[in-house]
Amino acid sequence: MTPWWKHGVIYQIYPRSFADASGDGVGDLPGILAHVDYIERLGVDAVWLNPIYPSPMRDMGYDVADFTGVDPRFGTLEDLDALVDALHRRHIRLILDFVPNHSSDRHPWFEASRRESGGPMGRHYIWRGSRAHAPSGDLTSIFGGSAWSLDPERGQYYLHSFLAEQPDLNWEEPEVVRAMQEAMATWFRRGVDGFRVDAVTALAKDTYLLDDGTRPEAADLREFLHTAPRSPLMHRVLRSLRAVADTFGDRVLVGETWVNRIADLAAFYGDGDELQLPMNFALMEAEPTAAAWRTVVDETESALGEGRWPCYFLENHDIPRLPARVPDPELLRVVAVLLLTLRGTPIVYYGQELGLWSPPVPPEAQQDPVGRDGTRFGRDGARMPMPWTDAPGGGFSGAAPWLEIPPGYLRHAVSVQERRDDSLLALYRALIALRRSRPSLTEGAYREVAAGGALAYERLAPRERTWVMVNPEARPMRIPGPGGEILLATRPGVLARDGEIWRLEGRSAAIVDVR
Ligand code: GLC
Repeated sequence: MTPWWKHGVIYQIYPRSFADASGDGVGDLPGILAHVDYIERLGVDAVWLNPIYPSPMRDMGYDVADFTGVDPRFGTLEDLDALVDALHRRHIRLILDFVPNHSSDRHPWFEASRRESGGPMGRHYIWRGSRAHAPSGDLTSIFGGSAWSLDPERGQYYLHSFLAEQPDLNWEEPEVVRAMQEAMATWFRRGVDGFRVDAVTALAKDTYLLDDGTRPEAADLREFLHTAPRSPLMHRVLRSLRAVADTFGDRVLVGETWVNRIADLAAFYGDGDELQLPMNFALMEAEPTAAAWRTVVDETESALGEGRWPCYFLENHDIPRLPARVPDPELLRVVAVLLLTLRGTPIVYYGQELGLWSPPVPPEAQQDPVGRDGTRFGRDGARMPMPWTDAPGGGFSGAAPWLEIPPGYLRHAVSVQERRDDSLLALYRALIALRRSRPSLTEGAYREVAAGGALAYERLAPRERTWVMVNPEARPMRIPGPGGEILLATRPGVLARDGEIWRLEGRSAAIVDVR
């Protein structure tokens, strides 16, 4: 039987920004619970939540102070259980974020580790050098600045791939492996269906690379990440997590696997004993042209082959939303068709189905530590509160929200789009429903079919053939191919038959049953 995560569409929710039930301006678990009907109507199979763990929130929850708790800002463990129940009753799975690379500097493990180098937690983090001697190799962290910070208490430097408040865990220490496996198991026992594993490539800090400062690839951790596919340590970590998932059956591990070369993605699947769904960043990074999409899909298909299942997405909480790259509303409809009809599991980011964009956030209002010092692009724009209604405040919260809802968002609110058959939300719902109803789209093979400036492909199941034609260009395209019934189009009338040829209008896409 095909596992659920192959059929499924995953919906990513940024909990701070989905809905606030407690009235403090910050989204929470009861807020999500209040909107499970919306999630069900969207037709998705799973929800992935960004971190909800207790955290000082220096990196918005990616600085975890307790891997098995819920931060009071988001609710309680009981709220989490209630959400799992409500989703499961609707046959929707829940995926949490798992952050294996680092903890918060307020985590009790780090507090113990900095106190006592010879204590039981002395090796839980990556300590080097001494007060007088900085560690060899001048490593730059992914968020900028040195990746080594001196801890005055222990008199040694610790490694942090991200903020100084996010010390990296030492996965060479068996006790860390055991404790993190146990944390994961705790959530599985609570009914959680899987994890999105954070910053997978940052795990590749095999000591031989760390301690040899002469290696040029070690100068900047961002470069270092690209060595991950070849890192024995990273593969060990992934296998240890997958082993836990497998003891619970039917659970999934998605991974944040940002690599330069698509071919490198294959490594994260291991021998079927690491991640089931390493995320492919290439589609998100591609220009919106048929040529760029074709390259990404061809390379992915040939790198992964039939045995490994792709995982595509176009937006997430770390990058500007789609309109920054796809400025035309008609094109947003075209990329929706693309994302939801390729072979693989698609992830849709909350608000993507509404066509939200990333507004500029003035430096004094920035909440993201990455944006605040002005040296890098802040991520707040991609994390705005969800507009549910077009009333002031967007129905997100009874209080002032943690980030101000851009006034333009209200025109895109759920309540507004639900009133219109031609809204982007209606298109996402129709696409997801169609995908669900057709085995060729959910699990069929992929084959590109010859076509000029448009991208056209066929999805094939034993008794079903579906053609997908996407045309991101402004001009119409002529695509030779078999006739059939039009199942869905980005707008009525954009696809027409002309003898043996399909004529597809500019900036449009369509799906045809050619059985
Ligand atoms: C991942 C997360 C990002 C976070 C970082 C550090 O890249 O997606 O939001 O800041 O890891 O945990």
